[in-house]
Amino acid sequence: MDAFSFERKIKHYSSYQRILLVGEGDFSFSVCLARAFGLAVNLVATSLDSRESLMLKYSKALSNVKELEARGCIVLHEVDVHSMSQHPFLIRLRFDRIIYNFPHAGYLLGPFSSERNRFQIWFHQDLIRGFLKNARELLTAIGEIHVTHKTTFPFSEWKIVELAHEVGLYLVAEEPFSLWDYPGYENKRGDGMCDQTFPVGMCSTFKFAKLFYHSSPSCFHLSITASSPWSGYSGINGPRMERLHQDLVKGYFTSAREMLTESGEVHVTHKTTHPFSKWNIVKLAEEVGLFLVEEAQFTRGDYPGYINKKGSGRKCNRTFRVGQCSTYKFAKLPLQLYFPS
Ligand SMILES: C[S@@+](CC[C@H](N)C(=O)[O-])C[C@H]1O[C@@H](n2cnc3c(N)ncnc32)[C@H](O)[C@@H]1O
Repeated sequence: MDAFSFERKIKHYSSYQRILLVGEGDFSFSVCLARAFGLAVNLVATSLDSRESLMLKYSKALSNVKELEARGCIVLHEVDVHSMSQHPFLIRLRFDRIIYNFPHAGYLLGPFSSERNRFQIWFHQDLIRGFLKNARELLTAIGEIHVTHKTTFPFSEWKIVELAHEVGLYLVAEEPFSLWDYPGYENKRGDGMCDQTFPVGMCSTFKFAKLFYHSSPSCFHLSITASSPWSGYSGINGPRMERLHQDLVKGYFTSAREMLTESGEVHVTHKTTHPFSKWNIVKLAEEVGLFLVEEAQFTRGDYPGYINKKGSGRKCNRTFRVGQCSTYKFAKLPLQLYFPS
């Protein structure tokens, strides 16, 4: 039987996800995932170190890298998170999960640097910023970036959630991290006494995601990929999905309002049945200063040649049943009503 004919999971990760691991120490975390999945053809594991220096620094690096490659994992070295989105191998790939465990930029002032030193903190923040920016480029539309990080002072001073906001990422969840969930993983210091492990203490896995959508003047749909091997493992549940759709619609209304002439109209064709009715698009329009002029029944036959498309996932070119739907026509509220004095 094909080893990938069924899904295998460990904690937040699945054999159906394309996973990029960066800033690996001795690659024991990658090995832990690889063992859980059996095959590791869905993994790309990377280190900043060259292969040679890795072997000198970490006693188990050689055996770990060999095991990964035997399981089908791509192992890359000298991958810098500041520039990885332009890496010749990675540039053409997109990932469902990008993982960086215990990021650390190294000791700015040598092994006796204090983690409380504000230049040291700034140095770490620069690393996180570079990582998040590049990881965002390499992420699928509904992918997630996972950073496992200590939550106590002075590590809390890195303010990674704020840094994520700066580059257009949002915190999906913060989950407590436990080494027990990852058998065989040895978290490494990576600088100074590189091969030594360190007490993780209180720490969390921070999960970040980006919003991604496409829209057209007459219809819109958030880009969701159907759950299947190699093509999306969304993990997005009902209410969150609904919020994402609403964010998309509101963004569309806001931009469209700005592009509209004074007497212009914004038209949205949308299903009127549950659960689509829960998006409350009339209310969303009102929130950005648009009011409903008319709700007209939509019939595809009125537009000869028009084939409405799914627009995302492997079946994006397929049409779908429009069922009951309407064209909602919105116009601008006069400014004095929108911004009452
Ligand atoms: C504290 S160690 C953690 C190692 C590993 N992730 C683990 O959990 O065992 C920090 C890691 O970040 C890596 N690193 C530092 N700067 C980096 C950069 N610019 N790009 C990629 N990795 C980097 C180091 O090489 C080191 O492996």
